[in-house]
Amino acid sequence: PKITFIEHNGKQHDVHEQVGRSLMQAAVDHLVPGIVADCGGSCSCATCHGYVDTAWVDRVPPADLGEQSMLECVIDGAVNSRLTCQIKITPAMDGLIVRLPKTQF
Ligand code: FES
Repeated sequence: PKITFIEHNGKQHDVHEQVGRSLMQAAVDHLVPGIVADCGGSCSCATCHGYVDTAWVDRVPPADLGEQSMLECVIDGAVNSRLTCQIKITPAMDGLIVRLPKTQF
């Protein structure tokens, strides 16, 4: 599926990633700047924060309790904030747009 990441400065990255990988891995695999992912995907660093496009919010699985508590730590959190390591790519996510925050710290 194609995933589009949009950096805070507006730069757009269209990447193709395998089903089953996470959105964080899609960004890291394709060297998209703006995702730090210090913990490597174990939901304990909150430096993989991204904003799922509002049109897509209902089409990704909701955050579990662990992710919700980590989301309280992110800078400039919003209702569509997610930890990208916690969203596994499915075929239905083709075209998903994720905007990246100005900073992860
Ligand atoms: Fe650390 Fe997502 S990579 S919480």
